[in-house]
Amino acid sequence: MNNNNLTILAIETSCDDTCIAVLKIKNSNLEILSNTISSQTKLHTKYGGIFPTLAKREHQKNLPIIFKKALKKSGNPKIDLIAVTIGPGLEPCLWTGINFAKELSQKLKVPIIPINHIEAHIAANFISENSKLKIKNSKLFPAVCLVVSGGHTQLILMKNFGKYKIIGETRDDAAGECFDKTARILGLGYPGGPVIAELAQQWKSQIRKSQRREASQINVKHSSSTNNKFQTNSKFQILNSQPRLAVETKRTKFKINLPRPMIHQKNYDFSFSGLKTAVLYKIKDLKLKTKSEKFIQEISFEIQQAIIDVLIYKTLKAAKDYKAKTIILGGGVSANQELRKQFKLKIENYLPNPTYIGRNETNKLKINFLVPEKKLCLDNAVMIGIAAYLNFLRNKIKSVKKIKAKANLGI
Ligand code: KG4
Ligand code: ZN
Repeated sequence: MNNNNLTILAIETSCDDTCIAVLKIKNSNLEILSNTISSQTKLHTKYGGIFPTLAKREHQKNLPIIFKKALKKSGNPKIDLIAVTIGPGLEPCLWTGINFAKELSQKLKVPIIPINHIEAHIAANFISENSKLKIKNSKLFPAVCLVVSGGHTQLILMKNFGKYKIIGETRDDAAGECFDKTARILGLGYPGGPVIAELAQQWKSQIRKSQRREASQINVKHSSSTNNKFQTNSKFQILNSQPRLAVETKRTKFKINLPRPMIHQKNYDFSFSGLKTAVLYKIKDLKLKTKSEKFIQEISFEIQQAIIDVLIYKTLKAAKDYKAKTIILGGGVSANQELRKQFKLKIENYLPNPTYIGRNETNKLKINFLVPEKKLCLDNAVMIGIAAYLNFLRNKIKSVKKIKAKANLGI
């Protein structure tokens, strides 16, 4: 097999998306020939979560169909290597992909590379827009990776591709799970992340509009985008390079202030289950018979901001403590526009606050920031293919017999 000329067929079935991608590698260029996804979201929405046996049945039904589609879209190339997710994930779902990969491997007489789903979320960062692989850039390491998905919230110290150490993780719910569970409480369906993000944005836009209106009434000469219209909530000001909106403390109708769990603890662990409980209490406190649109928007904003604050604070702390050259994001939650924006701003404006950073203005932390393009944040098989190529370069081909589903596989 030629390292510089290789076609990989990648399969991902760890959760509720059936994904197949075909990638062509030629002289360190990685071309995505197809990225096919069959989502089961609609099916699971009515249950507010994923049923493993139902998901497995759907994968079995969908795999042959999207395999054909993926090959056709790619121009039926000769496949040199198969990559498949072996964990972590839902065991029945993982087995469906693995069995499909094994059959195909025998039929095509090509080897299989087993892939760790978490490593693949990180690997999604190592392809640039012009399809070049970025991994050879030694200036990127050590890196601190934040993997935030429906099943995981982990801070991982990455010394190089394949060299990882978990330095922090959630003690209960994952960040994506928190979005999903609070959305369920609010009756917003599944998955919760995108819908909460959308409602939070609506709330923010409305507040901005009313602020603009007020500003024009009192004839104040400044635009809506300048920060001096906003008031900073002192408790979290270190975190937000974009100060929090004044309305949160002053003009909010429902005065929602959710906790930022474990934010000031000296470790890199997370805990999100308390947020879900706080949302339940808030609803109880307000004795809301029906949850108005405004309430849903306002609480969505606060849920999202609470999650973002904790994620950014802990990641920056880890980056500083481990002298990381790069911060890397991955997983479904990293598709969140506000998280991406606030991370970028925070890194660019690393504040010289003695209680937090311990550095002065002239000694700002210079750090690279990698986040996958949005379509590669959520589960997909392209990331499995990229991880496979990077593992292939490290000779990680395994005998087919040894490939097994590992629901709790660690990185
Ligand atoms: O990585 P992923 O596709 O699947 C797992 O490996 O779990 O992540 C799915 C999670 C869900 O919890 C979903 O609510 C969350 O990612 N998610 C988001 C957004 N898009 C997806 N969370 C916040 N904002 C988003 N825009
Ligand atoms: Zn995932």
